Amino acid sequence: MSEEDRYVFTAEWYDPNAALQRRYQLLYYPKDGSVEMYDVKSHRVFLRRTKYDMLHKEDFYVGNKINVFSRQLHLVDYGDQYTARKIGSKKEKTLAMIKPDAVSKLGSIIEAVIDSGFTITKAKMVSLSRAEAMDFYSEHQAKSFFTDLINFMTSGPIVAMEIIGDDAVSAWRKLLGPTNCTVARSESPQSVRARFGTDGTKNAAHGSDSNASAARPERIFDASIHTNKLELEFFFPSSGGRGPKNTARYTQCACCIIKPHAVAEGLTGKIINHILDAGFEISALQMFTMEKANAEEFYEVYKGVVAEYTEMVVELCSGPCIAMEIQATDAPKSFREFSGPADPEIARHLRPRTLRAQFGKNKVKNAVHCTDLPEDAVLEVQYFFKILDS
Ligand code: RTP
Ligand code: MG
Repeated sequence: MSEEDRYVFTAEWYDPNAALQRRYQLLYYPKDGSVEMYDVKSHRVFLRRTKYDMLHKEDFYVGNKINVFSRQLHLVDYGDQYTARKIGSKKEKTLAMIKPDAVSKLGSIIEAVIDSGFTITKAKMVSLSRAEAMDFYSEHQAKSFFTDLINFMTSGPIVAMEIIGDDAVSAWRKLLGPTNCTVARSESPQSVRARFGTDGTKNAAHGSDSNASAARPERIFDASIHTNKLELEFFFPSSGGRGPKNTARYTQCACCIIKPHAVAEGLTGKIINHILDAGFEISALQMFTMEKANAEEFYEVYKGVVAEYTEMVVELCSGPCIAMEIQATDAPKSFREFSGPADPEIARHLRPRTLRAQFGKNKVKNAVHCTDLPEDAVLEVQYFFKILDS
């Protein structure tokens, strides 16, 4: 007799009313997509086994944040050996970095990342100073191409991402293709460097090295996720340090947020492609997971004005979102027009080419937030890139 496949996790939820961190044992049954939760302290059933279609097997790994009935739960540990072995052993984190020559192809590269089954768990557009670039590539100090490499890496913004997936370190290097783009185009024409890179130095993207990763297997949470910690730490320091600065400029801008539902649906790359194809510049970008208090504060101007205010707050903190500073000569007006009417149904009738018409579901899950009032644009961008990014 074989037991039904089920995964067990320890999950945490911050209860804003009681102002404390609650712990649950969470069970997930892949066969029918149901979840079940027990309160760890009281040993009581918290959620009876319930089918919940919004969750997928791929969402279940330690470190991820999942949304169960509007509660954002942080999966902090595996609950048994079986789950750790079955899920944890293959999951890795790695650094995927888009280099200056390919930031204009950001949307397509993110699509390639998502289509290959990776989950993007952190993202930040930064500009490297010379000192930072030399530090990051210090292993190549003595190489003939070092100066060219540093000049290139400081020639414009880059986008650093933490991605998670099965054997992510080697899988991402494979998707990248050979270092030299000309070689990549003949040997691996579907690879990122073949499709988006320029030459031997300007080669679109970077991935953490598997050897380095193997040499210093980093154990987080438990013995199951390996990560090339040094490179991820460089961009996303876990404690204290700041890492490279974001690229926000706070002028002639609009704030755009790809909402959590759209990020979860894998639409990030497509939405970014649309924005860039329409001629807007993305001058800053960062992934955030918002707390309820922050979402309320950010949406303050809609309180008592828009009927969906409460639902909008719940949506905005239901998972990671992507905040962007959009630049254009007549922003924020032009970007607001491009986003379309707040209600996607109306947008599909009146303005079918707009972002919300193409990617929105309903008034709350309408794919993107965009700055409504011109006087709020800089404030909204500051909220993310000055206040939350600190
Ligand atoms: P990366 O570290 O950026 O993922 O690339 P990689 O492992 O495939 O290549 P690596 O040997 O580590 O070199 C680092 C970066 O230096 C530039 N390079 N230019 N002109 C040249 O001969 C040359 N060789 C390397 C590339 O940008 C390469 O990605
Ligand atoms: Mg390398």
